[in-house]
Amino acid sequence: MKSITSTGYNPARLGWEESVFHTANGYLGVRGSPEEGAPEGVFSVRGAYINGFYDIKDIQYGEKLYGFPETQQTTINLMDVQTVRLWVEGERFTLSEGEVLKYDRELFLDRGVSEKRVLWRSPQGREVFIRARRMASLEQKELFLMKYAVMPMNFSGEVVLESEESGEVSNFFNPNDPRVAAEALKHLHITRAEHTPGGTLLAGRTDRSSLEIACAVAHQVESAAEKETWQAGERLFTRFKAHVPQEESLTLTKWCVYADSRRHPDAQDAAQRILEDSLAKGLQHFLARQTQILSAFWAASRVEVEGDKALQSSLDYSLYTLLCSAGWEGISSVGAKGLSGEGYEGHYFWDTEIYVFPFFLMTSRNIAKGLLEYRYNILDKAREHARLMGHPKGALYAWRTITGSECSGYYPSGSAQYHLTGDVSHAFIQYYLATGDLTFMRDRGAEVLVETARLWLDAGHEEKGQFRIDAVTGPDEYTCVVNNNFYTNAVARENLSWAAKIIKILDKQGMAEDVRKKLNITKEELRAFEKAAKRMYLPYDKERDIHAQDDSFLRKQRLDLKAIPKENFPLLLHYHPLWLYRHQVCKQADTVLAHYLFEDLAEPSTMANSYAYYEQCTTHDSSLSTCVFSIMAAKLGDLGKAMDYFNRSATLDLDDTHGNTRDGIHTANMGGSYLAMVAGFGGMRIKEDGLHLSPQLPEKWEGYAFRLRYQDSLIACRVRRKGCVLEVLEGKDVKVYVHGQKVKLKKGERTKVDA
Ligand code: BGC
Repeated sequence: MKSITSTGYNPARLGWEESVFHTANGYLGVRGSPEEGAPEGVFSVRGAYINGFYDIKDIQYGEKLYGFPETQQTTINLMDVQTVRLWVEGERFTLSEGEVLKYDRELFLDRGVSEKRVLWRSPQGREVFIRARRMASLEQKELFLMKYAVMPMNFSGEVVLESEESGEVSNFFNPNDPRVAAEALKHLHITRAEHTPGGTLLAGRTDRSSLEIACAVAHQVESAAEKETWQAGERLFTRFKAHVPQEESLTLTKWCVYADSRRHPDAQDAAQRILEDSLAKGLQHFLARQTQILSAFWAASRVEVEGDKALQSSLDYSLYTLLCSAGWEGISSVGAKGLSGEGYEGHYFWDTEIYVFPFFLMTSRNIAKGLLEYRYNILDKAREHARLMGHPKGALYAWRTITGSECSGYYPSGSAQYHLTGDVSHAFIQYYLATGDLTFMRDRGAEVLVETARLWLDAGHEEKGQFRIDAVTGPDEYTCVVNNNFYTNAVARENLSWAAKIIKILDKQGMAEDVRKKLNITKEELRAFEKAAKRMYLPYDKERDIHAQDDSFLRKQRLDLKAIPKENFPLLLHYHPLWLYRHQVCKQADTVLAHYLFEDLAEPSTMANSYAYYEQCTTHDSSLSTCVFSIMAAKLGDLGKAMDYFNRSATLDLDDTHGNTRDGIHTANMGGSYLAMVAGFGGMRIKEDGLHLSPQLPEKWEGYAFRLRYQDSLIACRVRRKGCVLEVLEGKDVKVYVHGQKVKLKKGERTKVDA
């Protein structure tokens, strides 16, 4: 397993490094900021976050209309533990003074450890080698470990290491970029800051959400050193001084435990207790467990590409980062930037259900289930949201949220994206089709499907035998508040039809009684769902043989994307929204995405025509787009094009192609890269009749391989020029479809099929 590396110090890349080399574990995320502090004038966001740990703030409007949300949640920056300052013989180490002779960062994807190595020559010619390692424990999610080692290379002398834990923190903001917070607010009030026998304790309370957070730190120094501690307000300092002989090291290990009151009734007590337990287990224990957990993860999840090392690394990085970003315990999900930065304020969008969820569904079911639990747990909020939006019945999930209420202040590309509700239901349906877990559908899924179906029934209406849904926004945020968005109508159709279906399936097993009673479901209502689904209007343009993105899209003025100067992309930062809405221009895949998710709704020729048409109008200004174009290019047989789009998706963060990775990595795109491999080249679809594969091998590669959990089996699929080999590694014999043909896979036997 390769690691991810970055070589050479470049201050302009520091923000990017902080995101890419962040350390996280689904609960806690710490940006990879310099321990010694960022040099003056260099962009840096020093941050630590807990998934779903938020404060509340007002949304400022010039004109506030009825139903606009008044407040929103924002993930807050926690107390900072990253600081370790260094002096050698009285000279302070900074990256802006002296000479940086060597500078490397490396993230070990098999060990879950990130490392920075610096060889520095001080202004007076003293050379030191610094090795700083970090880990967010995958076993003990509250634990973040840092190990900072300094070695004098050409002298023996005094080395000072100064650790700081600080409660003086704030969130990043930029009033000119809608993708990050617009204003500076103080979210964390420190209630306790003190030195403890082995370290420090900081505790705080959020400003308006009244949540508690505590951070307990222990310092360990491996050799004899003089220790001094002091406090300045909310800043706690611990200084170690030692004489260090040439080529020997002084090493400081910081054990940092964050605990929050959303998970622990007494955050302070939990932080201290977990710290004590962790210290008792020792560093070797956590290093060994980290490797074990990752080895199990890779065994189930790795996608191998033969013949393209760079691409392999990008893919590995994406899957690793997805694991580090995902909530699993039902009160958090996957932020648009994971736990790597403050872009989109830690909010959860449809990114999770459509782009990220499928990866976990096919590889780590417990996480997939946790993500669905989260949606189930905020169902009441979705009901409230529906009422606010004028629907007497049903549940409408908020466009962006942490606790379930709407956090979007710009409804045309926010609350109007009703499709998110269908996306959530799609994830529940896919879960059921992949697992057959009827118990979960009885206890959770059916309620979500019925409540969301009720929403569609109320949001839409029947006219001349067609069920229409007006005034919504589809995935494409450059085309807002339209009638009959093809994608939205397609997910709503599936949602309606499955709400009725799942009740019937449960009925057959005698398992529907509770949900029927709880929701007062009648036969008439189920019939109404079925009828609306059947009559769902799916806009189609006969002349072009394409599905129209919505009722008005094809009549708008076309935009010549080639005539727009390069520096004006992404368009959202340079053009008024109305100007964009007036043109045929797409920020991201919309109808093309519907063709991927619901391929049986359109003829292959229609899908091909749609693809060609929308490709001309799409800027891919959203990171959720190129992966979908890759999947559909593969479906339509253009592997060269699929490869080009796939490369764009896979390298987006590592090459910073959108120029904003410093605000955080793009989790949806990472899930999308996985899908481009498995659903694109591998042709994986989960349908009602079973698991479908249609493996194809691009010219450039010698082969590729992936594993899928389907029903009770773990299936390995290896694709090579000579054909494709399928094998059941765990579980039972299973039937799958390969290129549309039914194939029975027997446990222990390898089955060869054409690629
Ligand atoms: C995209 C949305 C996405 C959001 C968060 C926006 O730029 O247009 O589709 O949900 O980013 O990733």
